[in-house]
Amino acid sequence: MKTITTIQALRFQLDELRSEGKSIGFVPTMGALHEGHASLVRRSVAENDVTVVSIFLNPTQFNDKSDLERYPRTLEADCALLEQCGAQIAFAPSVEEVYPEPDTRQFSYPPTDSVMEGAMRPGHFNGVCQVVSKLFSYVEPDRAYFGEKDFQQIAVIRRMVEDLGFKIQIVPCPVVREESGLARSSRNTLLTEAERRAAAHIYRVLSWSQSFATDHTVEQTRQFVIDSINAHPELEVEYYSIVDADTLADVNAWDAAPAVVGCITVYCGSKPIRLIDHIHY
Ligand code: PAJ
Repeated sequence: MKTITTIQALRFQLDELRSEGKSIGFVPTMGALHEGHASLVRRSVAENDVTVVSIFLNPTQFNDKSDLERYPRTLEADCALLEQCGAQIAFAPSVEEVYPEPDTRQFSYPPTDSVMEGAMRPGHFNGVCQVVSKLFSYVEPDRAYFGEKDFQQIAVIRRMVEDLGFKIQIVPCPVVREESGLARSSRNTLLTEAERRAAAHIYRVLSWSQSFATDHTVEQTRQFVIDSINAHPELEVEYYSIVDADTLADVNAWDAAPAVVGCITVYCGSKPIRLIDHIHY
């Protein structure tokens, strides 16, 4: 595997591979890689001739600077994992390489980017669109792989790809979970053992709510999830929204959309760590 840090060197490598007719798969990440990321990389390796993985902790998507400061940085271990997964290129640019000038572009795709995470983390999806649009134009992949762990992020990226006319297939990949059911996340390493056990309660409740939903209304189910999670002393729900899986607009009846999904954000422990998850109904 090659590790590349400049856009110019990346383009040079990829132009050559493309001229040989090779298909290119791309997995954007912020590093601190785990099995969740690895599942995306393996899928890309299976479906493309060449897989590029970017490792870039994008400052413009962090509205909370302390979250950015404490984000785990593990470049060496990340490269070892990528090599093991069969990726050919790790692209790990500096902040100056990606943002030689401040990015003043504004992206707006309501309601997908204005509800839930968009409402709680102002500017977050704008930063995601800024960096992903840049990375897409450097790599020009045939396919790009995103985890359903960040369910809303996929909906926003799909809108951006449509808007900017990128000829890239967006491939959504299932959530990888720990044995306890907790969705794997780079932020999980910041949890104590006790907090990690508490965090497992989130998916347990979401799973219970699937059967609860069969004979309750949307609002009753929403309240059931919020109350059951808040009953745990280490957990506090920030929001639980039951939405149309495509537009992310709130639904008030189970048959109001072809697919309905519940998206949650929970604060866990005393630091506290912010965890997200979702469930399909
Ligand atoms: P990051 O949080 O590093 O995640 C990179 C990719 O891995 C995302 O598509 C995310 O959904 C996926 N992923 C993370 N945990 C997962 C899990 N448990 N199961 C399946 N997939 C998982 O998301 C970002 O970075 C950034 O916003 C980025 C798109 C790179 C732009 O900066």
